[in-house]
Amino acid sequence: MRILAINGSPKGERSNTWRLTQAFLDGIAQQLGPDAMELRTVCVRDVDVRPCLGCFSCLRNESGTCCLHDDMQGIIASRVWADVTIWSFPLYYFGVPGPLKNLIDRQLPMSLPFMVERTDGVGNGSHPSRHDMSGKRNVIISTCGFYTTEGNYDGVRAQFDHMCGKGGYEEVLCGQGELFRVPELAERTDAYLQIVRHAGAEFAQGGITASTKEELAKLLFPRKTFEAMADASWGISRETGQAEDEAISFTRQMAALYNPASHDGTDRILEMDYTDRGVRCCIVLGPEGATVVTDGSATPTTSVHTPFGVWQEIAQGKVSGVDALAQHRYSVTGDFDLMIRWDDYFGSGADEEPSQPTDGGKEKPPVMLAMLIPWVAFWTAFSISPTLGPAITLAACAIGTVVLARHERTVYDTLSLAAVLTLVAASLAGAPLPTLQCASFVAFGLMWLVSALWFVPLSAHYVKGSYGGNKALRNSIFLNTNRIICLVWGVTYLASAVAALVAPQATALISELLPVPAAVFTVVFQRWYPAHVARG
Ligand SMILES: Cc1cc2nc3c(=O)[nH]c(=O)nc-3n(C[C@H](O)[C@H](O)[C@H](O)COP(=O)(O)O)c2cc1C
Repeated sequence: MRILAINGSPKGERSNTWRLTQAFLDGIAQQLGPDAMELRTVCVRDVDVRPCLGCFSCLRNESGTCCLHDDMQGIIASRVWADVTIWSFPLYYFGVPGPLKNLIDRQLPMSLPFMVERTDGVGNGSHPSRHDMSGKRNVIISTCGFYTTEGNYDGVRAQFDHMCGKGGYEEVLCGQGELFRVPELAERTDAYLQIVRHAGAEFAQGGITASTKEELAKLLFPRKTFEAMADASWGISRETGQAEDEAISFTRQMAALYNPASHDGTDRILEMDYTDRGVRCCIVLGPEGATVVTDGSATPTTSVHTPFGVWQEIAQGKVSGVDALAQHRYSVTGDFDLMIRWDDYFGSGADEEPSQPTDGGKEKPPVMLAMLIPWVAFWTAFSISPTLGPAITLAACAIGTVVLARHERTVYDTLSLAAVLTLVAASLAGAPLPTLQCASFVAFGLMWLVSALWFVPLSAHYVKGSYGGNKALRNSIFLNTNRIICLVWGVTYLASAVAALVAPQATALISELLPVPAAVFTVVFQRWYPAHVARG
């Protein structure tokens, strides 16, 4: 496939639209294989294409030669050479930018001078083509600055309907185009570019499908969010019309990303204290939206103390917020819950991990009950009745497995089941109960203890759902919190094993009492430790 890509943005390579065009070309190349695609590009900004003089000399001479001798002759040759022309341009005053319009006008030598009937219902009158352009395809790729493309491209479409025949072109049009140059929003814009890549692959196969067109038409961000970000991006206060500190406009843009659906009935006030600039401002997170307060009148519930550059690096994804916190590059005081639920408050939603398809729908997250049922059944059933113990334990394990079948199973669910089945088998083989109870505490304790040294500690599997899902498993503070909790539980159960050895008659009491301090520790520590690290 021979492709001519015309970059009509005055920004050249730095064009937002060109990023979409490159993604589209990537999609074509992936689909066809790089050898099956020949590409020529024209950057309108860099070529010498003078405006048409309107002299009609090109129509007057037999060869259709223009009287202006510049780069246009080569561009016309490429238009004739190409199977596909991609017109890549920003929307300027609801049309194509001036230099690109010049280039379009200068295509007059491609036409013969004679008048012919227009048969596709687009306007009246036409000129026949001097070249065989049948079967050639056109694509327009464009971004615009307003929140939507809807209603803004009627002029462009009218122009291309005349040039290519009614609807005789594919289009990739995207509003909020300036967001493609904002590194902080790359998660969302990269997701869009991925759809454009897919559109390119489909185009290479025949045409962009209706479902992809639907995806392409979706807004990058809701109108309100986008417009608040756009307004804040100029660094000029809307109220006073005066320039304001870069850190404040940055905070306003951050506030624009607030998702009011995350409001849980309590207003929170996040203070951004840019320590290197002496600038403090608060974002009031209410049920309707976020407001930025710069006059010091708001009392923060959570304060982030950070150099501006560090916060920018985090927002741009150059460094993880958790790692920067662990390295004490910034600190947090006040209610740390807001930081834990940061993605709920400010996430774009584009970073959600795709759910694992299973039979008939989503698999539910793992539950600790699945790991605990075999152990609790063993300890309870055998202490009530050593004779019925095996049967009751097996029944409880079977029921637990069936009831929780839709939950994702962890390695610890499987290990627990295997360990308890081994204990039941040992009891049926005649092993004495005190030995089995002691062995069960050792096995249970070791499982926690060893997991604390493993990549993902045991408890992390079961609580990750409350901390952003699998993303939490890359969070060193989350992992360390769980590591310490697992150590405590491991030691507790190994201590239970020792106590059961020393005082076998009190085994039941020990197994009930020892976990109590561990449970209290878990509840307190899981809140205290992350906040402690955050305070620096
Ligand atoms: C002179 C000028 C006129 C513009 N006119 C419009 C317009 O009519 N409608 C619109 O939505 N955006 C308009 N924009 C915004 C651009 O279309 C938008 O910023 C686009 O993403 C720039 O793309 P580029 O980086 O590929 O040049 C205009 C921008 C400029 C500089």
